[in-house]
Amino acid sequence: MAQRERWGSRIGLILAMAGNAIGLGNFLRFPVQAAQNGGGAFMIPYFISFILLGIPLMWVEWGMGRYGGSIGHGSTPAIFDAMWKNRFAKYVGLLGLFLPLVILIYYTYICSWTLAFSISSIFGLFPDADTLTGGATSGYLTPYSNYLGSYIGTSTEGLFLKPHYSAYIFFAITLGAGMLILAKGIAGGIERLCKVAIPALFIMAAILFVRIITLDSPIDPAMTTSRAFAFLWEPDLSGLLSPKVWLAAAGQVFFTLSLGLGAVMTYASYIKRDEDIVLDGLSTASLNSFAEVVFGSTIAIVSAVLFFGADGAAEVSSGGAFSLGLISMPAIFTHMPAGEFFGFLWFGLLYIAGLTSVVALSQPVIAFFEDEFGWSRKKVVSWLTLFFVITTALPMFVRGSLDELDFWVATFALVILALFEMVIFFWFFGSERAWEEINRGASVRVPRPFFYLMKYVTPLFLCIILVAWVYEQLPSLLSNGDTGVWIARVFLALLLVVHCFVIRAAWKRRERRGL
Ligand code: PHE
Repeated sequence: MAQRERWGSRIGLILAMAGNAIGLGNFLRFPVQAAQNGGGAFMIPYFISFILLGIPLMWVEWGMGRYGGSIGHGSTPAIFDAMWKNRFAKYVGLLGLFLPLVILIYYTYICSWTLAFSISSIFGLFPDADTLTGGATSGYLTPYSNYLGSYIGTSTEGLFLKPHYSAYIFFAITLGAGMLILAKGIAGGIERLCKVAIPALFIMAAILFVRIITLDSPIDPAMTTSRAFAFLWEPDLSGLLSPKVWLAAAGQVFFTLSLGLGAVMTYASYIKRDEDIVLDGLSTASLNSFAEVVFGSTIAIVSAVLFFGADGAAEVSSGGAFSLGLISMPAIFTHMPAGEFFGFLWFGLLYIAGLTSVVALSQPVIAFFEDEFGWSRKKVVSWLTLFFVITTALPMFVRGSLDELDFWVATFALVILALFEMVIFFWFFGSERAWEEINRGASVRVPRPFFYLMKYVTPLFLCIILVAWVYEQLPSLLSNGDTGVWIARVFLALLLVVHCFVIRAAWKRRERRGL
């Protein structure tokens, strides 16, 4: 067995894992979720989900990944197969390749928008609508939503979108950058990127944070920063009884910590056998949530309240992550001193956050072809590049397909994969073995109550989420029948079938080699 790659240093590992977790989800998705689901009250289900799902799954993925790495495997099909003696295990594990791949089909593209916007900002290319009065409702934001619309080509009618030609260029740059980094490997590529990118990201976030909390409201002198904070953090406790709020909180914890996709597991397969994963896992989860709760929520929301008032901000956040990050923020930057620079920082920050997640999402597939087919890293990366050039055409040109892809993989399927991870590790592999696997090398062992939590409570909680999700979403699922949506569904089904064949081929190869 060839020597597996390794992370170069502990700090490098932690920064890479932080880069994996910190992404567009922290700065765009979290503030929208919090604003839409009860503000301060959202923090209660968020925090409970963090303890009951986030931390346990984090340790499980680190533990399973490190174990897999020690036997030469870094992706879920092979790790599940090694831990669960069942011929279906590898097919369940294919989700750990399929999901990150599908997310990447649109995530890299979105990431490239932020690069384009960062450059637009520094060159002062955003539209300059002349008044802020009247709030968002008066159509004040229309020039900015048109700006985004003409960039990604949604302004025209019909099934097909017509992006601005520069959208292709920025996509090519982003994909190229990600793939070049991946071609340089774990320590030489990903780790080197994150050692620079993550500290830079925190500095940029801190500068923006200070800038936003010291801003005066241009529309209403009585609207101070503390009142703007109250908009986000004043709890609306009525939401605590609604399953929708709980579902949103659990979903956010998953997405932001990159759990249930195999991405953390693959990164963990490159660590030493006796690394302290208890502490490292906790550190990265905390770093991520700090970035999200402190910086992520403040920058986009507080500035929206200062500029558009509470109603305007509520309206902007109800329009979703793009409306908040890519429409409202450009409007704000064009109306504040040195806005070109701060806009450049904001979109630059999003780009860095996105790029470090792009490499994380790509690594499971790379590990799979290296470990199971013996391909070289460069060979996998070349094929992967071709794959994305072809498949990204879907979200780029077909209206409605981006949301549909996102809907299936990023909110639903990751809960299923997470449930399998928990059950395979704690029930099929064996709970005491799993417990030892997590605690090996730990300077402080995980408190015993977590054992019961991980064995019983977390899987149960995941089942409840799944049932609630199906119950909540099924009606709306069945109702959307647009052509673009159907194209996306057929595409997903075909891609799933291809995955099954690839898995079968991998195991045929194993048999031939007598493994
Ligand atoms: N956690 C990332 C975010 O917050 C998204 C992501 C998910 C990245 C899964 C890698 C793997 O945006």
